[in-house]
Amino acid sequence: MSAAGTVTPTPVEAVRLADPYPFYARLVAERPFAFDEALGAWVAADAAAVRAVLGAGALRVRPVAEPVPAGIAGTPAGEVFGELVRMTDGAAAARLKGVVAQALARADLGRAGALAARYTREALARGGDVPCEELMFGIPARVVATLSGLTEGADREAAAAIGDFVRCIPATATSADHRAAARAAVRLRELLGPPLTSAPAASAQDTACGPGPAGAAPDASPASGPTVPPGPTGGREAGACGPADGSAPAPLRDSRPGTGGGTPGSGASASDAAPAARPAAGRQGAAGTAAGLRAATGGGAPGVCPGVHRGSVAGAPYAAGRANGLLRELVGAAERAGCTDPGPLLSNAIGFLSQTYDATAGLIGNTLVALARGADAPDTGALVREVVRYDAPVQNTRRFAAEPFTHAGSTVEPGQQVLVVLAAANRDPAVNPDPHALSPGRVNPAVFTFGAGAHRCPGGELATALATAVVGELRRAGWSTTTTPAYRPLANARIPLL
Ligand code: HEM
Repeated sequence: MSAAGTVTPTPVEAVRLADPYPFYARLVAERPFAFDEALGAWVAADAAAVRAVLGAGALRVRPVAEPVPAGIAGTPAGEVFGELVRMTDGAAAARLKGVVAQALARADLGRAGALAARYTREALARGGDVPCEELMFGIPARVVATLSGLTEGADREAAAAIGDFVRCIPATATSADHRAAARAAVRLRELLGPPLTSAPAASAQDTACGPGPAGAAPDASPASGPTVPPGPTGGREAGACGPADGSAPAPLRDSRPGTGGGTPGSGASASDAAPAARPAAGRQGAAGTAAGLRAATGGGAPGVCPGVHRGSVAGAPYAAGRANGLLRELVGAAERAGCTDPGPLLSNAIGFLSQTYDATAGLIGNTLVALARGADAPDTGALVREVVRYDAPVQNTRRFAAEPFTHAGSTVEPGQQVLVVLAAANRDPAVNPDPHALSPGRVNPAVFTFGAGAHRCPGGELATALATAVVGELRRAGWSTTTTPAYRPLANARIPLL
């Protein structure tokens, strides 16, 4: 309770306030790095604390004892979750992060923007109420699905499935959410597996893959869940990526005519994974083989998944030769890095969609709200980039101490949690002059919305291109929204209900 008698929110509750920024400003000024009794966690709010926390190897993205949320452990959703670079630390995860980042760095942003603009025009041309859900969530996800090689119909199905998949991520997820996420994970593997196995090699002049932009954090790579029931899932090792001993990497793709992809040889090295992270006995050693990926996707013949051509999708969801773009780059980068296990590649291809989903919806929504509140910005791209800082769609993230971590004289003990308030650091006057002004075209802003350090987001440019295209089309159509929307009751994503 404040002196004025108003109830002080927790930094998690602040995410959905109409204006959380006065509260964040107080945190930055008065409690830049402090333990919050109500949350039971440390809160890092100013730029210095946020940088220090995100750069600390002692702090991990998941609790050491729970690498996969209990509600989805042992399900297909848990297996995907446990292989996401976003959700894992350790040397293998760092190398896989390099692969993921290389693929995203080569995403065709022009095509992404053109597709997002086209889908937006098509949605508006249908008439009736403006379909905000579709514009904010569906279109960015569809574009990423299309960039991943899915064709009309399959792209929509993937966009719908990823909405179900992300439901498992909040701590508040129900058992119905977990079941929906598990079904979605199965379907997403079916949809994305064949384009991944049939991705042609990236160009030969591509640069060699080093350890990647993510510095290798210390050991303890968390696990995927146990074997996926029911049916064959392939014998993948969580996060296995390239020989840790520096031996020559095995190629990822199978060069046999007709297979179109996959990986010969066993290849996968899990020598840097924690022993507890090893897959349960019974998972077979098919890692690094075309069969491994086909099994992981539930498929049979190369490039063909049972059930994929049935249901709502008319015709082939991905035509031969369409395997290109993001997944082609992913496969090429994996080959160069010696990431011989296709399973984690498939999980991180699904991760492209899940990482896009809520965050890009928030960026589109928050930009529309900024316009409704009178933002003066003829250049939509410049406005979107400033909204990234000014009204961050991802307001906070978390870290979990595996070892003691000390900042500014305070020590986080192993087992404790840190809430990292990215949106507060964005408005720290120590790093951004006049931080509460919305100034499109701001020169060299310090922006924490995409994280920092080993887990920094590699999708920022893509997200900005998508949001710019969708908002640009809405502006051209003369559409505007309310200045005072309610916000979705989420713990870290700030997404207006439009
Ligand atoms: C406005 C949109 C987006 C925002 C605000 C955002 C924000 C973030 C943040 C804060 C992190 C780091 C989390 C942490 O360190 O705890 C992250 C990680 C990540 N993001 Fe994004 N993201 C966005 C869009 C995207 C898109 C479109 C993609 C790819 C298609 C993407 C891919 C990733 C990946 C792969 C990671 C994991 C990186 C790692 O853990 O090493 N993001 N994102």
